[in-house]
Amino acid sequence: MDFEHPPVDPVPVCEQWFADAWERSGLPNPNAMMLATVSPDGLPSARTVLLKGFDSRGAVFYTNSESRKGDELNATGRAAVLFHWDPMERQIRIEGKVARVSDEESDAYFASRRRESRIGAWASLQSRPCASREELDQACREQEQRFEGQDVPRPPHWFGYRVALEHIEFWEGGDARLHDRVVYDRDDDGTWTVRRLWP
Ligand SMILES: Cc1cc2nc3c(=O)[nH]c(=O)nc-3n(C[C@H](O)[C@H](O)[C@H](O)COP(=O)(O)O)c2cc1C
Repeated sequence: MDFEHPPVDPVPVCEQWFADAWERSGLPNPNAMMLATVSPDGLPSARTVLLKGFDSRGAVFYTNSESRKGDELNATGRAAVLFHWDPMERQIRIEGKVARVSDEESDAYFASRRRESRIGAWASLQSRPCASREELDQACREQEQRFEGQDVPRPPHWFGYRVALEHIEFWEGGDARLHDRVVYDRDDDGTWTVRRLWP
């Protein structure tokens, strides 16, 4: 990334930084991102999810839509995500509207998960109180019996969300905390306005 002469389109820069993170960060989950949501009354919350798709339409992750994050995304339709690759002194921040991905896309990703994870998606009442590990194990056993000898379909409440690319910031660590920062804002016509920020 040339912070003095940033490219007009930030999407290939994101793709390059994701590829660099897979190749060089040494992190076990270089696609991990912090997902921040906000409740309708303005209370923020954050958690880690995994990036499972990225292109000019946005950043995709998968979850249970009946979870806390699902409730907040469904209510507000907005999110922020943050990637931090500490060994590379790099950070990307993305903010934008959130939309559900197509059923075909969610089905394809769900089908790629191992059977135990697909069973778990049916068993877990994500974000709701769970009495004990035994209650969780029992719920998994029940779902295993239910789908014995069959393919495990995608639960209707489990799907992907795509965070649109409206605001993107690239950050790279510099000496004496004089970091480089560039932000891109997408205009209504799809073009990008780019500005450098003080660290
Ligand atoms: C490395 C890592 C990756 C995770 N990936 C996901 C994910 O892709 N989807 C998901 O629903 N939860 C994922 N989780 C669990 C979430 O952080 C969180 O505990 C869960 O989704 C419930 O969040 P909520 O109660 O705020 O909805 C991951 C956790 C970690 C530590």
